[in-house]
Amino acid sequence: MASISDIFETMEWGPAPEAAGPAQQWLDAHARDFGLYVGGAWVRPESGESFETANPATNKPLARLAQASAADVDRAVQAAREAQPAWAALGGHGRARWLYAIARHVQKHSRMFSVLESIDNGKPIRESRDIDIPLVARHFYHHAGWAQLMDRELADRVPVGVIGQIIPWNFPLLMLSWKIAPALAMGNTVVLKPAEFTSLTALRFAELCDEIGLPAGVVNIVTGDGRTGAALVEHPDVDKIAFTGSTEVGRIIRAATAGSGKKLSLELGGKSPFVVFEDADLDSVVEGVVDAIWFNQGQVCCAGSRILVQEGVAERLIAKLKGRMETLRVGNPLDKAVDIGAIVAPVQLERIQGLVKQGQDEGARMWQPSWSCPTEGCFYPPTLFTEVSPAATIAQEEIFGPVVVLMTFRTPAEAVELANNTRYGLAASIWSENINLALDVAPKLQAGTVWINCTNVFDAASGFGGYRESGFGREGGREGLREYVKWTWEKEANGAGEHGGSPHGSSTKHETLVGRASVLARPDAGLPPIDRTPKLHIGGKQARPDSGYSLSVVDHAGRAIGEVGHGNRKDVRNAVEAAHKAKGWAKGTAHNRAQVLFYVAENLAARADEFARRLAQGSGDMKSAEREVELSIERLYTYAAWADKWDGQVHHTPFRNVTLAMNEPIGVMGVVCPAEHPLLGFVSTVFPAVAMGNAVVAVPSERFPLAATDFYQVLDTSDVPGGVVNVVTGLRAELSPVLAAHDDVDGLWYFGPREGSAEVEKLAAGNMKRTWVSYGRPRDWLDARQGEGEEFLEHATQVKNIWVPYGE
Ligand code: NAI
Repeated sequence: MASISDIFETMEWGPAPEAAGPAQQWLDAHARDFGLYVGGAWVRPESGESFETANPATNKPLARLAQASAADVDRAVQAAREAQPAWAALGGHGRARWLYAIARHVQKHSRMFSVLESIDNGKPIRESRDIDIPLVARHFYHHAGWAQLMDRELADRVPVGVIGQIIPWNFPLLMLSWKIAPALAMGNTVVLKPAEFTSLTALRFAELCDEIGLPAGVVNIVTGDGRTGAALVEHPDVDKIAFTGSTEVGRIIRAATAGSGKKLSLELGGKSPFVVFEDADLDSVVEGVVDAIWFNQGQVCCAGSRILVQEGVAERLIAKLKGRMETLRVGNPLDKAVDIGAIVAPVQLERIQGLVKQGQDEGARMWQPSWSCPTEGCFYPPTLFTEVSPAATIAQEEIFGPVVVLMTFRTPAEAVELANNTRYGLAASIWSENINLALDVAPKLQAGTVWINCTNVFDAASGFGGYRESGFGREGGREGLREYVKWTWEKEANGAGEHGGSPHGSSTKHETLVGRASVLARPDAGLPPIDRTPKLHIGGKQARPDSGYSLSVVDHAGRAIGEVGHGNRKDVRNAVEAAHKAKGWAKGTAHNRAQVLFYVAENLAARADEFARRLAQGSGDMKSAEREVELSIERLYTYAAWADKWDGQVHHTPFRNVTLAMNEPIGVMGVVCPAEHPLLGFVSTVFPAVAMGNAVVAVPSERFPLAATDFYQVLDTSDVPGGVVNVVTGLRAELSPVLAAHDDVDGLWYFGPREGSAEVEKLAAGNMKRTWVSYGRPRDWLDARQGEGEEFLEHATQVKNIWVPYGE
């Protein structure tokens, strides 16, 4: 007679399908043909063009969707523009009530949303029902709270305006909520474009907005493919673009918005490491892998797609994994007993098949369970690759399917190196029973989210977003709000920017002031002779410029008073290399950085008279020069003060864990200093970055670089380690593009004309470095509200969220 365990082993699962009736009836009620939701009304697309959306589990059509043209996008942007002032004027409490109403209605219709999501996207109903839709409601509730608190907690910020939002197909309604909830909370209005494969829940959401009577134009939904997305990106009246999708399109958007002044946040691809140490609980690890790479068929930007396992336990883990893979069930997404549903569309299935074939061709060993997938619809089995070389295509490229690669390591140091051996940096997970080891490794991983002994957990209270080529900006948490606000002073300040004739404005403005020494007038006979030419400052040493040329510096009356090195591409490269060697600066304590900055201030104070005289040579105004030195000392104190106070947070995520939001330095940063206030501008831009642990390559004021070159001696006497502050003098127009295009520069600040700002943003798309540019807009460096503080610290850091569960 069969024992109970035999019965468990042999028992077949019966199907337990969720009824699709209400979702199908909803489609029928709309005659399976949808328009655009613009200005609170359903409108037909101007072009009359439409396309079909299908159920990937059956390949049968579900409905026709409108293809919005540029004219349609324009209508939607206008509607959002018209609605924005009143929406902002509603105040935090008013908006909180609307967001709360949305959350409640999503909950009331949650099953309908879940089923619609599963038939449109192919994801198992268990996931849409238990993860996607509850998180959608949670995002609206959480941000109803932020709306309520905005006046108090973000008192010095105002809405950005009209936001264009473009989302992918992997978490359709969830990504909509990540975008719309914070935007609305902060007083913005939106035009959102869902992905062409999965627009149905967004359309149902539009209808929900209508049902609750949300003011017209606050939320606009335009469907269509990449052309619609591009029209939204390029629309001149959009103030910010928020995008989630492939790195490839993210790069196009970075380049397309360069110089437009649009705020931009990008949440892009990943190849996230899943690091297993030998003391990990391997049974938990196996369930972790299931959640990491077979959740949502592996179509997850932060999927743990690279298992890195310590050698001693690799064989055991592989055996356990294969055993578990045999028990996974692939099939009808509406079946509640199904683990893996359908791939979103035939084109994505082909992409997965192609990459798997390439993996085999490149010599890796593939394993799939013995059972076979349904043949109708887009299904793909869970797949494990072993014997993978770290450089293999499947170890580097985002597959976006249920395919995981496994590699081994010996030591924690090797694990970190392998984990970071990717251009991405979205997420990582660490598996170890040794919390000391896990928390030692977490800060060393280049990733915006690190999960310890868990994976793929998300919450509205925690920021989510990337390092490196996984993009920039955060969604969720207090840090996510920054994307949807700007500083009050920016709104108040208006006036003409600095628009030079050349991209960097230097030629028109400065040719009379700076030029090759040989072509300049001779020094005025009445002045002391030029005594020395300060060199560049690289790696803590004075370095002769590679070019062998110098630039002449003139005083306020146009008389030559000195020369500085004419830095070039090679000098920038050397400086970047020196900055990389100084990355230990970030590993020291914040207390240490504070001490060094106080010391810099002290040494500047000791030379205050000398610096004031120097500045007065440039400006001809001793009084303002003295004031500039005094303010520079004060500003150094500000950043010495902030060095150990720009704390992270512990987010209240609703699980048994602590979520540590840590402010980490960006890494190696280029800083192109403002032309005005040669000392204060240098101090105000270089030292917030340095205080936060970055190593900097600074291009000082081209107009009057001598204040910065005099500063070398202050650095040398203040225990600033070599390579932390590197100074390359020269022409802004020549040096900025080199920094912007350099793959080993992680961030770049540029305070200069609009055209130069555009060039910097365009070139930065290469490695997706973080940029902060001024678009030639004026900033009053003498005003502490504009010249120092949190705005600078936010740009000098990136937030890493580390999730640490507790309990047995
Ligand atoms: P995609 O990046 O092309 O699509 C994302 C969204 O951007 C969609 O709404 C699309 O219509 C829109 N879009 C496309 N071209 C655009 C343009 N030039 N300007 C503005 N918007 C544009 O991603 P796709 O083609 O759906 O998938 C391709 C690959 O991208 C996948 O195989 C996967 O590897 C990756 N991917 C990554 C995602 C992530 O969350 N990291 C999400 C979706 C895809």
